[in-house]
Amino acid sequence: MPLTLDQTYLTRSSFKPDIFKGKVVFVTGGAGSICRVQVEAMVLLGANAAIIGRNQLKTESTAKEIESLRSDAKVLGIGNVDVRDVQSLKRAVQLTVEQLGKIDYLIAGAAGNFLSDFNNLSSNAFKSVISIDLLGSFNTVKACYEQLIKNKGSIIFISATLHYYGIPFQAHVSAAKAGIDALSQALAVELGPLGVKSNCIAPGIIENTEGYDRLIGDNDHKEVTKKIPLQRGGTKEDIANATCFLFSDAGNYINGDIIVVDGGAWQTFQPA
Ligand code: HXC
Repeated sequence: MPLTLDQTYLTRSSFKPDIFKGKVVFVTGGAGSICRVQVEAMVLLGANAAIIGRNQLKTESTAKEIESLRSDAKVLGIGNVDVRDVQSLKRAVQLTVEQLGKIDYLIAGAAGNFLSDFNNLSSNAFKSVISIDLLGSFNTVKACYEQLIKNKGSIIFISATLHYYGIPFQAHVSAAKAGIDALSQALAVELGPLGVKSNCIAPGIIENTEGYDRLIGDNDHKEVTKKIPLQRGGTKEDIANATCFLFSDAGNYINGDIIVVDGGAWQTFQPA
């Protein structure tokens, strides 16, 4: 997959070019479509990064591509890590600290999804998605805990808006994302006094993503966007901007919150 951002991001971005200089971000699902653009933006703004994934080749080649965005950037691609296995995450954390020195920010973005009606959704299928999305997010924080405490770090979980109103064929993901919201809120309260912040970003309909292709499919693009108050689908850059805001000093007092980045869509998609 080609890079989404380039140097022109620095001229149109609201953020100073070096706001993340000396900082390290650890990202699960970092080779996927939304999370990789979050990393691209942070690297352009000075951060080093470790991106974690199941597929070694994809993770390593994505890391190399993102590294090319800044001459002194260091981006590690750590493959063969399954977020369902906390030990493999702990090894990835160890490698990150050895190679990049520390972890300041965490993006728990690894997710699995498919459309399935309840009748055809097996217990194992439900468990798989809960295990990747919810348990995987828990495991990621667990593995990064010492680094987050040591560096007074900041966590962003990738949530959704599916569970605000109930969507058919998405019972598994909706349950997982509701759990992620609850996990983030609990951590915000428990870890806040230790200097660690925890927030969620809930993307709406984001164009040019696997989720968009699967959820929107062949539906008329104009019909879909007409229902969104801002009259357009979201971009991966919209999610990256929200990420940079939350991790930057501008987001310093935001803790336990869910930033919905959906152009106002979920407010309108209520069943009639
Ligand atoms: C019904 C399905 C299914 C489907 C898998 N299963 N796909 N059931 N419809 N389309 C069932 C299997 O039959 C099995 O149950 C169980 O799920 C586990 O399947 P495995 O393939 O063994 O699991 P695993 O290899 O761990 O794969 C996990 C996965 C897979 C979630 C099922 O899709 C995955 O790894 N996805 C990662 C990439 C991905 O999904 N990206 C999308 C992110 S986009 P049985 O009972 O047979 O044992 C996103 C945004 C929203 O999240 C997207 C909206 C659609």
